[in-house]
Amino acid sequence: MTKREISRRTFMIGAGGLVAAGAIAWAAKGALTTSPSASTTVRNPLNIPPVLDGTEFDLELAPSTLQLLEGAATPTYGYNGESFWGPTLRWKKGDEVTLNVTNNLPEMTTTHWHGVHVPQDTDGGPHQMIEVGETWSPGPFKVKNEAATYWYHPHMHGTTQMQVTMGAGGFIIIDDDSPASNALPAEYGIDDIPLVLTSRRFDDANAFKTDRQTAYGDVMLANGVIDAEFTAPAQLVRFRILNGEVERFFNLGFTGDRTFYVVATDGGLVDAPIPVTRIRMVPGERYEIVVDLTNEPIGSSLDMMAFNSGQVNGFGGGEPLSDGEFGSLLNNIDFPLLRINVGEPTTSARTSLPSVLATNALWKATDATNSRALTIDHGEHGSDFTFDGHSYDMSVIDQTVQLGAIESWAITSNHIFGHAFHIHDVQFAIVSRSSGEVADYERGWKDTLGIMPNETVTFIAKFEDYADPTLPYMYHCHMLNHEDGGLMGQFLVVA
Ligand code: C2O
Ligand code: CU
Repeated sequence: MTKREISRRTFMIGAGGLVAAGAIAWAAKGALTTSPSASTTVRNPLNIPPVLDGTEFDLELAPSTLQLLEGAATPTYGYNGESFWGPTLRWKKGDEVTLNVTNNLPEMTTTHWHGVHVPQDTDGGPHQMIEVGETWSPGPFKVKNEAATYWYHPHMHGTTQMQVTMGAGGFIIIDDDSPASNALPAEYGIDDIPLVLTSRRFDDANAFKTDRQTAYGDVMLANGVIDAEFTAPAQLVRFRILNGEVERFFNLGFTGDRTFYVVATDGGLVDAPIPVTRIRMVPGERYEIVVDLTNEPIGSSLDMMAFNSGQVNGFGGGEPLSDGEFGSLLNNIDFPLLRINVGEPTTSARTSLPSVLATNALWKATDATNSRALTIDHGEHGSDFTFDGHSYDMSVIDQTVQLGAIESWAITSNHIFGHAFHIHDVQFAIVSRSSGEVADYERGWKDTLGIMPNETVTFIAKFEDYADPTLPYMYHCHMLNHEDGGLMGQFLVVA
């Protein structure tokens, strides 16, 4: 893609045409430049990350470069020599796993196992810093999570957005031997596709913009590839989708409003495949979906789409602005996430979806023996990101939970933005949304949830196995500029 193709469209924002709501005014940036290009899109093959399996894993995070635009290569970060992202770690449920993470970046980092239930000192949050040139070796720990798609990424307070934007991250796929796992499409990179979706904005030297005011990219990357295409066999195909955006939500679907099936949420298979035409995905969320291409003509194509036009301001990327802190070329439009070309079926095609995938004993509101409430708001300056009025402080414990407790957490957003609430240590069940019903497809184990302005979302979680008198776990917004900006708190689990 040339710079011209990503050059900005003329977009005139009339004075006073945007509403200043709450404490934060949407920045009106005035006239921006140039015109849309009508060139034919050259598509690039989707990159499939290599796999590491076993029980001991070495990861090395280092700077790299990636040729994304004409001209200069883009400086990036990647694990294990990848120029963006890192290998997919395959862990087996019940295994004892050890990791060795070497930091060859020019600055400190951490590596967190998002969604995975591990001891506090193994979690890779802001307290487990890895100095330049050092190796951190968490584990061995037992893989207790359900089979699903998790991920790893830096969690260095204040630089998480920058390091993740540079490309640092990777998938963790937890496997088990359940009949459902054996019946779902599972040929990695063939009919079982990991897919991290994230956008970027470039500066004049083709570097990624990583500042907190540039949370929305202009160009979509699928597994680090611009205008990605993938040839999928004409059969049932599973996509393990991660919203890897800093701030954007996806109203995800397919051209033709095709029905597809949610088979897993963040932390496990759902009870039965859930037919949908759209799913909302906020940063950090994963859904595994199955798309039935059995009857598609070989050689035909379809697009996985973000149907983001017409979304409201609180929906990340819904702001009708093409530039600036609250805008991008992808805001409030429908745009493709991945071109899928239909190819020959494989000999090992799965021909039908199992009608039962799991029997989840999701926590119910009545299971909770303790409850707490957290409010996301604008803080004392009126423009901060805070839980209950204060910003993240590494030396302050915000919540203390008893080991073994089943708790109800009600998260309220009194903030102008939508947010992506994420909590470490646990997988939870969403039991209510004040705005209406909990979507069918989010009735499964979750560690991240979307919350809209003036909404309260309540989830139930059990805090088990790991206690530590001093070392906390995190909860935070997974919009990484919000997280770095202080929308994070920490909790102890104590015996
Ligand atoms: Cu994906 Cu606290 O992180
Ligand atoms: Cu947020």
